[in-house]
Formats: sequence, structure tokens, C-alpha cells
Amino acid sequence: MTVVAGLDVATIKADFPILNQDRAGSDGKPSRLIYLDSASSSQKPRQVIDAMSSYYENSNANVNRGAYSLAVEATDLLEGARQRIASFIGAPSSNEIIFTKNATEAMNLVARSWGGTNLGPDDAVLITEMEHHANIVPWQILAAEKGFAIRWIPLTEDGQLDLTDLDRLLDGVSLVGVSAMSNVLGTLNPVRRIADAAHAAGAIVLVDAAQLVPHVPTNVVDLGADLLAFTGHKLLGPTGVGVLWGRAELLDSMPPFLGGGDMILDVRKDGFTTNSLPHKFEAGTPPIAEIVGLGAAVDYLSNLGMDAVRAHEVSLTAYAMRTLREVVGEDLVIHGPAEPAARGGVLSMKVGAAHPHDVSQVLDQHGIAVRAGHHCAKPLMRVLGVNATTRASLYIYNDEADVDQLAEALVEARDFFTL
Ligand code: ALA
Repeated sequence: MTVVAGLDVATIKADFPILNQDRAGSDGKPSRLIYLDSASSSQKPRQVIDAMSSYYENSNANVNRGAYSLAVEATDLLEGARQRIASFIGAPSSNEIIFTKNATEAMNLVARSWGGTNLGPDDAVLITEMEHHANIVPWQILAAEKGFAIRWIPLTEDGQLDLTDLDRLLDGVSLVGVSAMSNVLGTLNPVRRIADAAHAAGAIVLVDAAQLVPHVPTNVVDLGADLLAFTGHKLLGPTGVGVLWGRAELLDSMPPFLGGGDMILDVRKDGFTTNSLPHKFEAGTPPIAEIVGLGAAVDYLSNLGMDAVRAHEVSLTAYAMRTLREVVGEDLVIHGPAEPAARGGVLSMKVGAAHPHDVSQVLDQHGIAVRAGHHCAKPLMRVLGVNATTRASLYIYNDEADVDQLAEALVEARDFFTL
């Protein structure tokens, strides 16, 4: 049994079909997948896959429309998932859980709906240099229309937010957009501190929690967030479903994002009235099976306990940082905070002079999946002075043996491309 603090990884691994089959590697030899790309998308346990199949086999009908019992059953499954997802993130009400396509759509919803109504030429939005493009580009698109300024919180040398000038940066700002955990550096940001300062300056706070919610116990009220976005597919759930949480009174004040379907209460030739929350922001038939799958994913993580998930991640990250440095040596740079407790299990690396795409190809020959590239964070790449990194990201089904194999394969890649 492999137990890294907090979790029984061998038992967990057994729940993930994709981790238990021999696959043909790029060299044609069968091997087990060592999946180290969960920051990109997590694998799915049997419980999630079964919940979705069962929905289609036994309960499939459209929701919030039919009065027949099958439609009521489908609606109950969806609304039950909404309630469990709400309690998973400490939302005061399940009406504050808006289902979107992904975290990106959730942040675009905020930009279009809240930003489109509240931002003008005299305003400013404050974001950080470590944001994912999904919390940059929607603001840039809107700024081109509305003429507001975009300001940036800079970074310290070790990949943390430099908050020295926060009060000055906040002066005149209407919204702060901040990632709770960087998808490149793993940095866990002091969201509560930023939110308190933002609120004191009269701004609201949008948190990109795509990397946080799957890995760290999350409570939207304790974070001090006004709006918070995350996605299902990094959280053991399916693709095609994400969540925007928002304070009810704020969501109530925002105009709808997309029109049609369940978001209306009445439509006349001269206009329409919107439905109440959460339906006001859920136009068209929602991704029902995906929401059911996300509910099962949240159940799976709740059964493990998010404190145990986090303890496992800190412990395995510490092991990985130590082992990779020892085995690969000075040629290895791991970007971001040195202290495992200050970060998640996202390890963006520079491996000697080897290009990240070449490194990832060598790793693939060993059945090791990592992401190489800019990770949808090009402003951050510029701050780091690199075009790309090799990123290994850890999750509940990874253990020390996975890290050991990564270390050996990195040495091979470094030697092949450097010596
Ligand atoms: N945002 C995802 C990543 O960091 C896709 O890889």
C-alpha cells in the first residue's frame, strides 16, 4: 500500500480505469500511464463515469421543463448535484451556483455581464502577472470597447504576488481579478488579504479558482470572494461543465449573459423578464450528464476529505521538489515558491538547455504525460524570461514512484539534449 500523508494512493489509483491499462507508448512498448498533467485536466474515477452512464441509461430527460416523472428525476439529479457542489465550496445557497461550460466561460460571463454594465473610461481593473489568459483576455476585449485601464500586480523573484504597492494599485479600481493558485507556479495567493484591501477600496473580487478547488479545501465566504470560477474537468469531473459562484445580491444585480431557454420568466413582443437565480444565467439545455458527473466527482473528493487531499499534495510536492533537485541536479530550475506549503503540486521546470517540447517527448517514451508550453499564461512567461516550461502536475492518484520515474526520465532528457 502506498500512503503519502493523507491518502491511500494505491486504492485511489484502482478507481481510475485509464491508470490501470497497458497502453502502447510512443516507442510501441506497452506501459502504464504515469499521468502528471492534472493541472491541465484530471483523470476520471469509475464513480464519475458510472454516474454519467447511469444518468443516460436510467434517467435521461430534459430538466426544468417536463412534468412527467422521468423529467422530474433528471431535474432532481441536476439540482442535487448543484446542492452538493454548493456545500463543497461553502456557498451560502445553491442558487449562487451557476453552471457554465468551463471556468473560462464563467470569467467571460463576469466580464460581459458585470463589466459590460459597470465599467467605463474612468474605471480600472486590477489583475496579476500570473493570471491565466482566461482572466486577462476577457478584460482586454472589454477594455477595447469601454476604454477602462488594466493594471497588474507584479511578482516577486520567487513567484509570489508583490503586494507592496497594493493600496496604490487599488486606487480607483472597480474589480480585482486574481488567481487563487497559479497554474504555472503553483503559488497559493493570499486571496483574503487582497479581497479585504479591495473591498476597503470599493472594488469587487473575482477569483480564478480553477486550480484551487480541486486541490485545497475551499470556502468562498472565508476567501472573501464576490465571484469565483472553477471547472469540472480538473476536479475529477467531465469536460463541458464549469461553475461560476457569486454572492446572490451581486448576481441578482447583473444582467443575463446569454438569452434563451431557462433564463426567461416571460417573453413578450416588446421584451422579456429574466428568471430568478441560478436559472437567469443558464440559457438553453444545460450539460445535464456532465453536472451529474461533477456531482459524483465532488462526492468522491468529499469522501477522501479535502484536508487529506491537501496533506497528500503538500507531502508529495515536498518529495518531488527534493527528489528532482537531487537526481537532476543544478541543471534543474523549478519556478515558483521554494516552500511546498506555499504552493500546490504544479512543478514548472527548466531542464538544462533542453526545449520543453523535446523534454516532454522523451518523457512520453516512458509513458509519462506532462504539459510543455506557455500554459495559457504568456504574460507570466515573459516575466519569467522563458518561452515555455515543462510542467508536471500532481494529484490524488500520484505517488512517490511516479516522481522517481519522472526524475530518471528527466535525467535522460537533459543528457540527450545537453551533453
Ligand atoms: N488551464 C489549463 C492548464 O493550465 C488548461 O493546463
